[in-house]
Parts: sequence; C-alpha cells; structure tokens
Amino acid sequence: MRLPVVTVAASRLRAAGKVLAGSTPETNHTAAGGLTVSVDPTDASAAARREWATLLAPVWLEAMKTLDPNVDYPYSMIPMLAREHLEKCRLLPNREELITKHLPKGGRVAEVGTFRGHNARTILSGAQPDELHLIDVDFSQLERTEPIGAALQSGQAVLNQNDSVAALLTFPDGYFDWIYIDGDHSYEGVTRDIAAAAQKVKHDGLLVFNDYTYWSHAELVPYGVIHGVNELCLREGWYLEYYTLDSLMYCDVAIRRMNS
Ligand SMILES: C[S@@+](CC[C@H](N)C(=O)[O-])C[C@H]1O[C@@H](n2cnc3c(N)ncnc32)[C@H](O)[C@@H]1O
Repeated sequence: MRLPVVTVAASRLRAAGKVLAGSTPETNHTAAGGLTVSVDPTDASAAARREWATLLAPVWLEAMKTLDPNVDYPYSMIPMLAREHLEKCRLLPNREELITKHLPKGGRVAEVGTFRGHNARTILSGAQPDELHLIDVDFSQLERTEPIGAALQSGQAVLNQNDSVAALLTFPDGYFDWIYIDGDHSYEGVTRDIAAAAQKVKHDGLLVFNDYTYWSHAELVPYGVIHGVNELCLREGWYLEYYTLDSLMYCDVAIRRMNS
C-alpha cells in the first residue's frame, strides 16, 4: 500500500529517468522538480554526476519523507546499528545458502508473502520444515509445482490467505522456529509484520527479512525494511546473525534476540 506522495515522487523520478535515457549530449531538459538540466548521458564526469544528483535530490527527499517527515538530507534518517548488533553476523553469498545450510531443519516455519512460491520451494527443499505456513493476501499467482504441490497435499504446507498480521495472530505466541518476512515492504507494513512476528516466533527463534534496503531501484519506491529492522534491534535488543547478498542487492538479514 503506497502513500500518494510516493506515487507522485516515483512518477516524477521515472519521468526524469526517461528524459535522461532519451537525451542527446548537451540538450537542455526540464525534468523533475521543474529544474532545467543539461545532461550528457555518455559523460561520466564529476560535473555530469553532480547535475544528476542535483536533479534527483528533491525527488528522493520527497519520497523519503514518507519514512520520516523530518528528514532534510537523503540517507540521514535510518537508525544506525552498533557493534553489538553486528559482531556475530555472518555474511553469506545468497539467501538460498542461508535457508539450505544455516537455518534449522524441521520445525515450524512461516513465510509472510509467497507470491509465485519461488522462495517457498527453497524453504521446503532446503529446510524441510515439519510445518510451513504460507501467508499471502492473494494466492492466485502461486505455482503449485513440486515440492509445493506434494507439501500442500500432505498438509506439510498450509495456505493462509489473509492479511499477514491477521494470519500470524491466529497462531499461539512463540509458535514458530523462524519466520521469513517478504510481504508489504513499506515502513508501515513491515513494522506491523515485525510486531506480530516477534510475538509469534520462539524466544530463541529467528526473523528473516528479504529486501533489507531503503529504496527499491526496480520499483522506484522507498522500502521501510532497514528502518523497521534496525528500530527493533535497537529498541528490543536483537542482533544480526546473517546478512546475505543478492545480485540486485535486495539482501536478506536474519535476526535473533540477544538474550536468547
Ligand atoms: C515480493 S512478493 C513475495 C515473494 C516471495 N517471498 C519469494 O521470494 O518468492 C510479496 C507478496 O506479499 C504479499 N503481500 C503484500 N502485502 C501483504 C499483506 N499485508 N498481507 C499478506 N500478504 C501481503 C503480496 O500479495 C505478494 O504476493
């Protein structure tokens, strides 16, 4: 669910991108924010980069104000983690390795946001949970190819078609060994998922977040995942146990309570 201001900002940013992509060297354009810019797309000089940054800054700030209305400089509003949140963190090449080699086998697992089922297939084959509860508002795109088809048939996997928080709240507190969260990436959406998931995961369990980033370069919208995760770590004493890379830097983090 996007706030209107984000839609406006994203469309302006897209417009700016189109102008730049179609521009010829040394052509003047009026683009985002009503700024008149002269951009040579083949020019990698510092001046050209400064011009591009000047063009984007007001659009970026407008979008980021949906995360923090007081932000007055891009990149300044994310609460930063301290050494104690990071010193045990392992860096992994991708989320598949996290799921297949590092997360506990068996047990009870939930995935918030399943879409076509790509990651659900990895969870089933890689972590072999005793129960996998898939949660999504819409399963019309789910591809029921193996191992999902067989898991649904046997009852190992269960579809919970509902809003993520409403679905999570149907389980007892401390029910899950780990929860994979990849649903609504807005700050508002991810913080409500965090509150429900922290209640429903075991005290020594893990919360895993896809898209630990503050800006989706594919969709040109802000994501609130870093903001929400860092706030939880700082406020309630969780630490990063794993950080996984991704080819487009839509990275994952797995976090655990410090006192577990
Ligand atoms: C990025 S996709 C999930 C992709 C999947 N985890 C994977 O990696 O293969 C996000 C999914 O979250 C679902 N979603 C978004 N907001 C939701 C909410 N509030 N409750 C439940 N599902 C939600 C969408 O319907 C969509 O299918």
